[in-house]
Amino acid sequence: MKGNFAYHENAAVKVNAEKNRCYYIPHGEKNSFALLENWKFEYFEDFDASAAVAAKPETDIKVPCCQEMLGYGKNQYTNVRYPFPYTPPRVYGKNPCGVYVTYYRKSESEKHYVVFEGVDSAYYLLVNGELAGFATVSHNTSEFDISQYLTKKDNEIRVIVLKYNSASYLEDQDKFRMSGIFRRAYVLGRPADHLHDYKISAEADGKLVITADADAEYELYDGGKRIASLRGKKASAEIKAVRPWSDEEPNLYKLVIKYNGEEIEEEIGFRTVEIKDKTYLLNGKSVKFRGVNRHSFTENGYAETEDDMLRDIRLFKRNNINAVRTSHYPPAPEFLRLCDRYGILVLEEADIESHGCVYKNNCADMSTVNDIAENPVFADHFVERVIGMYERDKNRASVVMWSLGNESGWGENFVKTAKALKKLDTRPVHYENSYNHATREYSGMDVLDVRSRMYPWVSETEEIVTSATLGDRPFVLCEYTHAMGNSSGDVKDYWDVIRAHDNFAGAFVWEWCDETIAGEKGDLYGGDFGEKMHDGNFCVDGLVTTDRKEKSSLKEVKKVYSPFEMSYDGKSVKVKSRFFYRAFNGLLNITLKKDGTAADKSRMPFTVKAGETVEIPYKANVSGGYAVLVCEILPAEEEPLTGKDFVYDAQGFTLCDEPIALSPEKEISFEIGKDGNIASLCAGENILAEGFKVDIFRAYLDNERAVSGEMTESGYLRCENIVRSKTDNKVIGFVGAQAVGPIVEYTLGYAVKDNVLHIKFDYEYMPKIQYLLRCGLSFAVKGAQNVTFLGNGRGESYKDKCNYAIKDYYSYNSAEEECPYTKPQEYGSHNRTSYVKLSSCGLSITADKEFLFSALPYSALELCEKKHDFELVKDGNTYIHLDADHSGVGSASCGPALADKYKAERKGSIEFKLCFEKNK
Ligand code: GAL
Ligand code: MG
Repeated sequence: MKGNFAYHENAAVKVNAEKNRCYYIPHGEKNSFALLENWKFEYFEDFDASAAVAAKPETDIKVPCCQEMLGYGKNQYTNVRYPFPYTPPRVYGKNPCGVYVTYYRKSESEKHYVVFEGVDSAYYLLVNGELAGFATVSHNTSEFDISQYLTKKDNEIRVIVLKYNSASYLEDQDKFRMSGIFRRAYVLGRPADHLHDYKISAEADGKLVITADADAEYELYDGGKRIASLRGKKASAEIKAVRPWSDEEPNLYKLVIKYNGEEIEEEIGFRTVEIKDKTYLLNGKSVKFRGVNRHSFTENGYAETEDDMLRDIRLFKRNNINAVRTSHYPPAPEFLRLCDRYGILVLEEADIESHGCVYKNNCADMSTVNDIAENPVFADHFVERVIGMYERDKNRASVVMWSLGNESGWGENFVKTAKALKKLDTRPVHYENSYNHATREYSGMDVLDVRSRMYPWVSETEEIVTSATLGDRPFVLCEYTHAMGNSSGDVKDYWDVIRAHDNFAGAFVWEWCDETIAGEKGDLYGGDFGEKMHDGNFCVDGLVTTDRKEKSSLKEVKKVYSPFEMSYDGKSVKVKSRFFYRAFNGLLNITLKKDGTAADKSRMPFTVKAGETVEIPYKANVSGGYAVLVCEILPAEEEPLTGKDFVYDAQGFTLCDEPIALSPEKEISFEIGKDGNIASLCAGENILAEGFKVDIFRAYLDNERAVSGEMTESGYLRCENIVRSKTDNKVIGFVGAQAVGPIVEYTLGYAVKDNVLHIKFDYEYMPKIQYLLRCGLSFAVKGAQNVTFLGNGRGESYKDKCNYAIKDYYSYNSAEEECPYTKPQEYGSHNRTSYVKLSSCGLSITADKEFLFSALPYSALELCEKKHDFELVKDGNTYIHLDADHSGVGSASCGPALADKYKAERKGSIEFKLCFEKNK
């Protein structure tokens, strides 16, 4: 066996690879393009060079793909911890290996370059048996000149992919650990004398400068019209009346580059990024990043098609998201072209994360260890990863900030890298983990242009942006509102601060999509693959599921990210534009709803300039009952990607909210059980499957990870209602459990007036445990129910997650109210409820004040005990909760603890009224 097969152990970065260049596919008479899609594959559990070189793979495999998704090797999800012993720069132990073989039919071109856009993680390239190259950096392009090895008509290309190598110490991102040729691979045939690289700099004032490594010609087009012709290794022009590029108006111009018979087409955007007066400016305006973090992850693991990327960008646009941090590595190059085209601001991050060494004891100790960031063995790796990203994507208008990586501590390797980047480009440089979470100090501020943090308290962000020393440059939250499970109750609070301060440039939700793997019954996460070490469902933390179903947190994000603000004063609807550049032509849909029925509808066109407010006159005639004015803002004309039905923003204004008078149709009767609660409730027959109880338990949210253990210890799961004293119409009792003192003291008063049952409930929480999740009454009725309610909807809503909700009448069938979370937890509640009707059994409920309600096919205990949604069992009953108060959801699974203002009140009182009504 010829060749050195130890590069992967010896911290080599790349061998025989071409110099990095910007991403393009050239065309011309002397060009060819051969996509390498069809390969033969053989899997080895451990790398052995001779076996891999000699292997004669027979199994067909389609590239791009991830081996583990096809059953080769095990899936493993780990967040911080390295999936191998920590012995940098070597990785000892078994090294899974995939051997890929395909054939390239040599074209007529003079030169042949094989290009890999993404291979996880290191690979040896052999052409006709000769070792032609080696590369690391999973999420970036490597290109090899293979011309000299093409001795035949059909030439064998063999890629030996190794899951681990020295550089694995730099790829410890929070993800399923997969390997394979997961992005496109192809051979480019080119003339021997060709343009290799060029940089386009195009400013908002029309200044265009192109530098290239060949004497090329350039033609600039505006639509079909040529507006400039240039030539040379350095060419420049002033383009008059240029339409700048921004997320709101992604104006692009076509640039055709010609050299020696080759043509390269570029779409370029003119825009200016700068920092002035501590403020991040795009085209002179202090734009805000309404961002999300996006891993390149789909139903096919790391492999994604252009349609997959477009699916996300469409969803971004439909949800008012204007920015993305490509966590924590460069995306497929095509993704950025789409961001250019549709207007998404990109914080592009380099493929560097060495989280596994940064904190001791799996993050129990948060003092930073800079092992890898300081280790000279990795110095070239750092530079390659950052500069390689810059070189590939430097011409993208959408890339408006660079990020050096994630969670790798700080050290000389970063300093050197940042300096190298700054020599090449003027875009601001970002990196979060120069902030030391233990000492609360920021390093590297001489080479970093923005301050960045993840998951601070809202109050802390305010301190930062207003402090004389910390507010010395723009501030961003590179991660916030950890969207794991039923989460993101704090989005608006952050944005109140962001919008109030010009030096607060915005924030990126963690994270865009869940990372789960479809199993036979449903979505799987860490631990479902027999891994010895894993991090459970911490990868299920997206605003959308892996197959891009939208969760309620996304609705909340969309509302807070809205480019409009609406208000109504009885005479007109005021629409304030939060756009920075764009004059908006829109339609205002106004629907006046009275007691759930549309009483008046109108649609009015309007125009509003960036940052200005327009008043649209509307007088609502209201006379009692429940009346809400629902206002929706639509674009006047259909916009790219978002579709015909697209609504930017919707807002409900409650105009009248009178108490609802129940109209009993039947006689109501009930029995009080030994525990002091209603044991049966009848209009003829007993409708209850389970009697009433005073209930303080909700199926723990992922956000209760840190407190649920203590809550369980404190009796939450084994508590009962215990009677202290009882008369015919009054019960004094407490919620208690073995081994602990009373958790909640309460009284229940019962009375029937005109066939309406009044239940007066007073409670006081005894502060023994963290906080009260909920406090109210629960019971179960037999059978599925058609439910109508007047409350916040239609989706679920909580006291801190209801900005998007509109109080109105909604209907649904309880059996169809499925749990939207892969790992079951509390869901489907509605705050601000004033009326509920269960039409299947005839029961109606109101109260003397708004309450929180849910009617679900599962009990809280069932939701708490099951690990996956597909394990949930419907027993045919409908489980009802009527809460006097209910805590918000927060985002504490990784973010700060639930804010006190969102915790359920310690003391409360409510009077529920129940009766059997006629179905309306
Ligand atoms: C952050 C990290 C992300 C992700 C998140 C938790 O610390 O940067 O990659 O792990 O926590 O979901
Ligand atoms: Mg991490």
